[in-house]
Amino acid sequence: MDFLLLQKVLLSLIAAAIAAVVVSKIGGRPRNMPPGPFTLPIFGSWFQVGNNLDHHDFIRYAKKFGHVFLLRMGQRRIAVVSSPELAKEVLLTQGKEFGSRSRNIVYDIFTGKGQDMIFTDYGDHWRKMRRIVTVPFFTNKVVRQYSGDWEAEAAAVVEDMRNNTAASTEGVVLRRRIELMVYNIVYKIMFNKKFKSEQDPLYVKLKNVNGERSGLGQSRNYNFGDFVPIFRPFLRGYLNKCKEVTRRRLNLYKDSFVEARKKIASTEATDKNLLKCGIDHFLECQANGEINEDNVLYIVENMNVAAIETIVWTLEWAIAELVNNPETQNKLRAELDNVLGPNKQVTEPDTHKLPYLQSVLKETLRLRMVVPCLVPHMNLQKANLAGYEIPAESRIFVNAWWLANDPAQWKKPEEFRPERFLEEESNVEVNGNDIKYIPFGVGRRSCPGITMAMPIMSITLGRLVQNFELSPPLGQSKIDTAENNGQFVSRLSNHSTIVLKPRNII
Ligand code: HEM
Repeated sequence: MDFLLLQKVLLSLIAAAIAAVVVSKIGGRPRNMPPGPFTLPIFGSWFQVGNNLDHHDFIRYAKKFGHVFLLRMGQRRIAVVSSPELAKEVLLTQGKEFGSRSRNIVYDIFTGKGQDMIFTDYGDHWRKMRRIVTVPFFTNKVVRQYSGDWEAEAAAVVEDMRNNTAASTEGVVLRRRIELMVYNIVYKIMFNKKFKSEQDPLYVKLKNVNGERSGLGQSRNYNFGDFVPIFRPFLRGYLNKCKEVTRRRLNLYKDSFVEARKKIASTEATDKNLLKCGIDHFLECQANGEINEDNVLYIVENMNVAAIETIVWTLEWAIAELVNNPETQNKLRAELDNVLGPNKQVTEPDTHKLPYLQSVLKETLRLRMVVPCLVPHMNLQKANLAGYEIPAESRIFVNAWWLANDPAQWKKPEEFRPERFLEEESNVEVNGNDIKYIPFGVGRRSCPGITMAMPIMSITLGRLVQNFELSPPLGQSKIDTAENNGQFVSRLSNHSTIVLKPRNII
C-alpha cells in the first residue's frame, strides 16, 4: 500500500525537483569533491542512479568517473573506491580516519544505533567490544579447542547424506544441512548448545527470525527512504516491521539462550568441568560493568549474522563451483586421496597440507566474494583522499570484488581457476597481504572471524569431496549461479538441489 501511494507522489516530486533546480541553480558539487553523476537539490543523483546499487553498478561508474567517485543520494554521500592504491589509503594508511561504520535507517534499528560491535563508530566502545569478543571467538586457542567439534559436525553432515537415499538419487538442497552445521558450530562456541535436527523447534524459530532480519536488512527496496528523508513516511510500515523483528529476535536470544545458559551455569556452578562458553565471558564482562545487557544481546546478534551467513553462503558458492567445474572437483579429490590416503578423513591440521583445497576456497572467495564492497566504512570528520575532499560522515565502499576481478590485475578473472593461486598468484593469501585480494578486508575493521572461517570451510568442503561425487540433478548440466546482491552482500539466488553419489572407499 505504501508503495502505491509512493508511486503517485513521486511524479509530483519529480516536478518539484526540476523546479527546485531551476530556481536554485545550484546543481553540481563543490569543486574539490570527487567526481560523480549530476545532482539535483534534495534528491542528489537518486533519479538517475536509483535504489539498486551493487558492486557491478559501481564498476560502471568507476569506468566513467574514476577510481574514487562520489554519489550524492539525497542526504547520503557515498564515496566508492576502486583501485588498490586508494583501498590501501582508506583501509590502512588512513584506517583510523575511515574506520567508522555507516548505518542506514534499518541498521540503526537492528543495532540500537551502533550499540553492537560491527556497526559502531571507531573509538572506545568498538575497541572494548572487539577485545571482549576476541577471547571466546578469534584466537588460535579457539581453533585448537573447537576444531574437533568442527570435524564431528562435518562428519555428521556426511553421515546424514549417506543415510539419505534421496541425496544419491534425485538430490537434496545440501545448503539446508550445511546451515544446521554452521549454526551448531557457532552456537557451541557461544552457548555450548547443539540443535538436534533441521526440525528442532527452537532451531526453526531462530533460523526464521534471523532470515527475516536478513531479508529486511539486505533488501535495497528501502533505499529511497534512507536517501531522501521526505520519502520516509512511506517506509513507516517497513520500519515498524524491522522494529518488531528486532524485538522478537533479541527476546529470543535473551529468553531461550542467555537466560537458559544462566540457569545451567547456576545449577552446575559447582561442576569444575563445566565448559566455559562465549556467553559466560560476555556475562562476566556485564557483571564487572564493562558492557550492559543490551551490548551482550547485540554481540549475540552480530555473531548470528557475521559468523553464520558468511560461512553458509561461501560454502554454498564453493559447492556450486565444484559441481559446475567437475575437473576441478576431480583434481581436489585426487589431492585429498593422494595426501591423506583412502581411510583418513580430513582434519584441521591436514588442511595446511592441502594446497589445492586452499586454492579452491581462495578462488571461491575471489570470484564469489560474499561481502564484495566490505561492510560500509565511514569518516566521522571531513577527510582527504587522492586530493579530493570527502565530506564528513560519507559512506565509503571499497570495491573489493573489483580489485579481485580487474582484468588489469588478474589473468582471465571471469574463470573459476584455483590453479592461479598455485601459479601466478602463489604469494597471495586470504589475510590481505596483497591489497588486490581482500575478501575479509584488511586493517582495523577487517574480519576477525577469518581464523575460524577458513578451517571450518576447509574441513567441510574437504570431507564432502572425499566422500561424495557432487553433481547437478539428472537432466541438468549445471546448477544455477545467478547472484542475489543485497545492501552489501552477494549470495546465490537459488538454493540448488545437489546429487551426492557416495564413494565407497571409506
Ligand atoms: C567483518 C568477511 C566470517 C565476524 C567482516 C568484513 C568482511 C568479512 C569483508 C568487513 C571488513 C571491513 O569492513 O573492512 C567475512 C567472510 C567470512 C566471514 C568472507 C567467511 C567466509 C566471519 C566469522 C565471524 C566474523 C566466522 C565470527 C565468528 C566479523 C566481525 C566483523 C566482520 C565481528 C566486524 C569487524 C569490525 O567491525 O571491527 N567480515 N567474514 N566473520 N566479520 Fe567477517
